[in-house]
Formats: sequence, C-alpha cells, structure tokens
Amino acid sequence: MKAFIVDRYGSKDGVRAGEMPDPELRDDDVLVQIHAASVNPLDLKIRDGKLKLILPYRLPFVLGNDVAGVVVRVGSRVRRFKSGDEVYARPDTDRIGAFAELISIKEGSVAIKPKSISMEEAASMPLVGLTAWQTLIERANLKAGQKVLIHAGSGGVGTMAVQLAKHLGAIVATTTSTANVDWVKGLGADVVIDYRKDDFETVLRDYDVVLDTLGGEVLEKSLRVLKPGGKLVSIAGPPDPDFAKDMGLPWAMRQVIRLLSRRIRKSAKHHGVSYSFLFMKPNGDQLREIGSLIDAGAIRPVVDRVFPFESTMEALVYVEQGRAKGKVVVKVR
Ligand SMILES: NC(=O)c1ccc[n+]([C@@H]2O[C@H](COP(=O)([O-])OP(=O)(O)OC[C@H]3O[C@@H](n4cnc5c(N)ncnc54)[C@H](OP(=O)(O)O)[C@@H]3O)[C@@H](O)[C@H]2O)c1
Repeated sequence: MKAFIVDRYGSKDGVRAGEMPDPELRDDDVLVQIHAASVNPLDLKIRDGKLKLILPYRLPFVLGNDVAGVVVRVGSRVRRFKSGDEVYARPDTDRIGAFAELISIKEGSVAIKPKSISMEEAASMPLVGLTAWQTLIERANLKAGQKVLIHAGSGGVGTMAVQLAKHLGAIVATTTSTANVDWVKGLGADVVIDYRKDDFETVLRDYDVVLDTLGGEVLEKSLRVLKPGGKLVSIAGPPDPDFAKDMGLPWAMRQVIRLLSRRIRKSAKHHGVSYSFLFMKPNGDQLREIGSLIDAGAIRPVVDRVFPFESTMEALVYVEQGRAKGKVVVKVR
C-alpha cells in the first residue's frame, strides 16, 4: 500500500512517500480502507523523535493518528463492525499509521462515522474530540455554570473544547490572536482574550478549570486565574507522576517525569489548586458519544484545509506553522 513513512527520527526529510506491506489483521481488529486522515502536532513530535522514550515505534513506520474510512475486513472476534461500515477512529497509540491506504485498528477504538458529516470532517474529529472529552468531562468533571478557560480556542483541540464546554453549560473563556477573535466567538466562547493585546492573567479570575494547550509561561500564569480548589489540566505542559505510572514507564523514567513536573506541581499546591497532565487515549465508546453530539448539531467539525494525499508533507508543514484554524485534513481517496 502507499503510505507516508518515517525511516529515521529527528529530520524534516524523515518522512517519505513509499510502499509498505498491508497491515496485519488481528482477531479483534477491523481493517479500514482509509478515505481521509487528519494531521496533529503529535505527528510532528513523533516524526522528530521527541516522544520516542514514551512511544517507541519500530522504524520504519507509517505516520498519522486520525482516520475515517470504510471497513473492508474484520477479525474473527469482531462483533460490532462488518465490511462496508463507515467508521472513524484515533488508532491505538502503539499501532498508528493514518497516512496510508489501509490501517488495522482494534475494534474497541473504532466508532461508526457520524452520518451528517463527510469523511474529511470525520477524520478531523477523533484525536481532538477525545482530548476535549477526556480533559473536560473525565478529568475536570466540568459542570453547567462553572467557568473554564480554554487556551488557543482557534486550534484543533481548542475548537472542540470550546464547543463541548458550551454544550455542557459552562461559561467559556478562550485566548486567540486578533484576526481570530470574532471567529472564535462564533464557536460559542463567552469571553475571548486577544493574546496579542491583553494578558489573560489580568482579565480573568476565579475560574474553576483551565485547559492548557500551550505549556511554558501560559501554564504558570494559568494557575493565577483559578479559584481555590480549581483544576489546571494540561495537554502540553510537563507530564506528571500519575501519567508515568499509567503508562507503565520504568522506575528511572518515572523519576525523571516526577522532576520535570515538580515545579508546576509545587506552584499549584502553593496556589491551592491542582495540576495534572493528560495524554489522550483511543476510545470507541466516547467517540460514539461524540458522534451523537455531532449528528444532533451540538458540536461541529472545524476543518481549515484539505490537502490531497500526495501533498501530505505540505499538510505537515502547514500544521507545523502553528496557525491552523481548526484541523488540517488529508484526503486519501
Ligand atoms: N496530551 C495530549 O493528549 C494532547 C492531545 C492533543 C494535542 N496535544 C498538544 O496540544 C497542543 C495543541 O494542539 P492543537 O491540535 O490544538 O494544535 P494546533 O491546532 O496546531 O494549534 C494552532 C492554534 O494555536 C493557536 N495559538 C498559538 N499560539 C497561541 C497563544 N500563545 N495563545 C493562544 N493561541 C495560540 C493558533 O492561533 P493564532 O493563529 O490565533 O495564534 C492556532 O489556531 C499541541 O502541542 C499538541 O501536541 C496534546
């Protein structure tokens, strides 16, 4: 099959178009003919080898973490899907490979594609939709009437998180640059801070939850907009000991991770709030619930650009520039 392949880590030329063997089909897998895939900053981090201690892929491997397509075969133990089903998924973390013609995915990570959207829109959803779900609902337990700050409301995660938080009945503040202020209000945000003009830290206070998608200085400042007992959940800041334990990392790695997040955990304690890092997980059941919200019109996919399959490398470059409004998709067939 045709695929975009990483031969070696750490080089921009490290991804190439080429041929790979068709994926093996395990008993609990569905084999999906890929119609569309979407690009995530995670693809760039994996390509550059930044996550190789946590996610060790055997080289060469196919890149890509989000798919929509049609089931063409199922393993002997698969009960929920059959050939011809239109599906979408964030493939399992240890078996990625969305920039290709075919992928095998564990049944439990797959869901039927929402009927009201195209393959390209469906491919834009899984990773960011699940991230929004797992941070706001599972981790932060966000409730109607609570105040949440979502950083980078115009990004892939931000566009989903703003819509989901509004659907939950929360009061939503977000940050974006001048050109995107009105556009992000259109997604439902109640308060939009133009980060080029204003400092969110001086404008917002007494928030229940902050979803940090940026890390660094933004992470530190976010502590100060929370009320006592508030929750800072980060997907871009330093990983914490619970994450290391959950990933089953070896003792030495767990100690390194403990040190990496020591400062922010200490500051959080000092401010009387909590800090946690979240690494999203594939989940077919949650994806089904997200699909229902899409078909009900409660949230909608936000696609910035669609690139043809041959231009996957250009799609990666576009995302790397960090200015995407919503998601960048590759149309595979
Ligand atoms: N841990 C996890 O499970 C997990 C899951 C998903 C994503 N992530 C990580 O989360 C981060 C965000 O992912 P993404 O897919 O949302 O990225 P993205 O779509 O590439 O983000 C681009 C957006 O970021 C905005 N932005 C850039 N700098 C900003 C700033 N200082 N303040 C506010 N907005 C800013 C840009 O808006 P402007 O053009 O207006 O600046 C742009 O719309 C990445 O680092 C990604 O790897 C982690």
